[in-house]
Amino acid sequence: MIGETLEVRSAEAGVDVDAATLIAGVMEELEPVAGSEEAFETVDESILEAAGFEGKPGQVVTLPHPEAKALLLVGLGEEVSFGSIREASGNAIRRVKTNRAVSLLARVDIDEATRAVVEGSLLGGYQFRTYKTDDNGLDVESVDIVGGNDEEVAAAVLACEATILARDWVNTPAKDKSPETLAGLIEAAAEEAGVAAEIWDRERIEEEKLGALLGVAAGSDRDPRVVVLEYRPDAATSHVALVGKGIIFDTGGLSLKTANFMEEMKDDMSGAAVVSAAIIGIARLGLPVNVTAIAPLTDNAVGGDATRPGDVLRPVDGPTIEVLNTDAEGRLILADGLGLAKRYQPDLTIDVATLTGAAAVALGKEVAAVFGSDSDVSSQILEAASRAGEEFWELPLFGAYRKSIDSNVADIKNISGGRYGGAIVAALFLKEYAGDGPWAHLDIAGPARSQETTGEFVKGASGVGVRTLIEVARSMARSD
Ligand code: BES
Ligand code: MN
Ligand code: ZN
Repeated sequence: MIGETLEVRSAEAGVDVDAATLIAGVMEELEPVAGSEEAFETVDESILEAAGFEGKPGQVVTLPHPEAKALLLVGLGEEVSFGSIREASGNAIRRVKTNRAVSLLARVDIDEATRAVVEGSLLGGYQFRTYKTDDNGLDVESVDIVGGNDEEVAAAVLACEATILARDWVNTPAKDKSPETLAGLIEAAAEEAGVAAEIWDRERIEEEKLGALLGVAAGSDRDPRVVVLEYRPDAATSHVALVGKGIIFDTGGLSLKTANFMEEMKDDMSGAAVVSAAIIGIARLGLPVNVTAIAPLTDNAVGGDATRPGDVLRPVDGPTIEVLNTDAEGRLILADGLGLAKRYQPDLTIDVATLTGAAAVALGKEVAAVFGSDSDVSSQILEAASRAGEEFWELPLFGAYRKSIDSNVADIKNISGGRYGGAIVAALFLKEYAGDGPWAHLDIAGPARSQETTGEFVKGASGVGVRTLIEVARSMARSD
């Protein structure tokens, strides 16, 4: 189902460390964390001093060990947190030169610590090597987590594998993931996980009158698709609908982007990847919640019949749209996606999109924006994100900006014309299509791609959002 990943499993204290690399955690003042004390006793502190290792975050040092092949000490900083354990586990895994690693970092015996070690190891050890011809991948193939309980490890592995699935799809070049091809990949992964998949082709999309998606697709030779995924477990009593932006490549359309802004635009289907991977993760975890995931997929290109500024599009439901900038295309296809989601009358609707550069300007590249139809919804998302260890921050659906997208010609226009508050204006646009029920909008334009390799992040697609959505489903399952 997915590319090669590390094998991560739980282990008893006293597991065989022969030929393995032992990973132990050290705080500042050279204080070993719970579980790492014994390993640390073998260390001559003068060597640490010589190596400049002070237990600071990001510091890693490899030392000899009497039983293991090597001892890898990782810095945890001043205080141990699940975040620092996750980060240290990611930093450690990439430095392992043996086939097998044994991590002592979960020994604080808290489930969250176990999850953090799994996440750091699996996500930090992620590699996208499909297009590499050399043999320079990581050496490590498996990690034994001492003290982690089996169930917690297995659940965390499933959430990480879903994240990795999204990363693989996003990292794939646009050439090799046409709407048709990507829909096929998603369908195959979904069905393997027991999620029902239906793929709409152009004919069906026309029949269903998804005029906004068709308007964006008009500039491309590759036909659009809509992916509809349904997970319906027996024990479920509530329903969450997920809608993901699936722009395979965003040239900007006739409102063409300049070269440097276009470079990373194969990422513009991250929302579609995240919602699809999340429903697959939720199904593999067997969470008792009904989930529907809808992903409109299309290129935003510049063919001869491309939508022109001034054209008006009719989405399946909701206001007609005057398109004044073809580069504000995500909100167009999401208008149709949200229109479809409404048919299910879900208890909660969440859309996920690399929607605006403005969200990244507001919050930087490491924090995703969340907008909620009310404060309960935003709190629900923020709490889920915090449990998942993903960074989200709330931005306001500030109603006074709504009038900036009134149109002369149609019911609404797709840009305000000014450059201020762009993430909020885009969210207010989506609100017109989201219906009256609880709804959240996640703008992941910043963190969808990691700029560097650090902690659980590897340069390239991050899969941010997958673990948060899984946690949302978990919280809905609990409150039934
Ligand atoms: N896909 C982009 C947003 C984006 C920008 C994602 C940078 C990731 C990194 C989106 O379709 C877009 O082009 N938005 C425009 C909207 C504008 C024309 C109102 C933008 O943000 O500039
Ligand atoms: Mn765009
Ligand atoms: Zn876009």
